[in-house]
Amino acid sequence: MKTAITELFGIQHPIIQGGMHYVGFAELAAAVSNAGGLGIITGLTQKTPELLAKEIARCRDMTDKPFGVNLTFLPSFTAPPYPEYIAAIKEGGVKAVETAGRSPEQYMPALKAADIKVIHKCTSVRHSLKAEKIGCDAVSVDGFECGGHPGEDDIPNMILLPRAADELKIPFVASGGMADARSLVAALSMGAAGMNMGTRFIATKEAPVHPNVKKALVEASELDTVLVMRALRNTERVLKNTGVDHLLEIEREKGASLKIHDIHEQVAGVYPKVMIDGEMDAGAWSCGMVVGLIHDIPTVRELIDRIMADAERLIRERLVGFLDGVEQSKALKVA
Ligand SMILES: Cc1cc2nc3c(=O)[nH]c(=O)nc-3n(C[C@H](O)[C@H](O)[C@H](O)COP(=O)(O)O)c2cc1C
Repeated sequence: MKTAITELFGIQHPIIQGGMHYVGFAELAAAVSNAGGLGIITGLTQKTPELLAKEIARCRDMTDKPFGVNLTFLPSFTAPPYPEYIAAIKEGGVKAVETAGRSPEQYMPALKAADIKVIHKCTSVRHSLKAEKIGCDAVSVDGFECGGHPGEDDIPNMILLPRAADELKIPFVASGGMADARSLVAALSMGAAGMNMGTRFIATKEAPVHPNVKKALVEASELDTVLVMRALRNTERVLKNTGVDHLLEIEREKGASLKIHDIHEQVAGVYPKVMIDGEMDAGAWSCGMVVGLIHDIPTVRELIDRIMADAERLIRERLVGFLDGVEQSKALKVA
């Protein structure tokens, strides 16, 4: 399949793996890129720019296909040394960066000078237009259903994607709630040039996380995520667990006066406990509603191959079938 996104990043399939803290290591990024998508290493999971340089080199050893790095701009008092992280990306020869969080505006000159394609993840049309204005090459439009930070507007992708299509000139991918061929074909229909998946890629053989995490994803339904940190305007969609129950209790008690230090134990340092040690009740970790569509743990290549094969069937048989008047009593089964 050829779209503006496959052309922009020089990839075979219009599928991107979003940056994920303590998941987006070289193993997963390389597996996605080797399967024809765009794999992304999560920059800030590497505690220093030197460690990121090593992770990029490790990924380069595992694939000769294009891959990218995620840079998340956090609202924090002690900002990570972003210029040094960008230098590591540039020196590692990486040509794609997924930015997220705050606007990447101040770093655009450095990224563009290094001939790096920038895809900014946005949860609103206005932020997408800003990204376009400051020179981003593409955006990842992240709907309310997404795992991680959906912003504060609460607009799901059925509305957000066509709105983005109406306003944007640069290409965009649909992010949030994407799991299979149905997601891809729907996203393409609504104007996207591909899709970005987070949660779905965690339940793959190559995702370098504890088996308990993959098991929890297969067992959970679409009813098992919840929003936390709303009162802090730092809303995050996470998988329910006893640590999160405790967090919600504190949020209920404190109401609008909630401060980040009130929930420090339930949100800080949770990722290594969950992803490395498999402590599933450790606290808040991002997970999308799409978890309700995850029923197996394939290899990344099996996942991507079946998405692309099912997408072709969906388009050629079901959609063209409607036009040709072929009776279709029920939806085509996708794996
Ligand atoms: C466990 C996990 C960790 C994530 N960490 C980050 C991160 O560090 N930076 C970022 O930009 N997005 C992060 N995300 C968001 C994903 O990149 C992606 O935008 C999101 O998962 C898409 O929604 P989906 O989960 O419904 O596919 C994370 C998502 C998950 C599930």
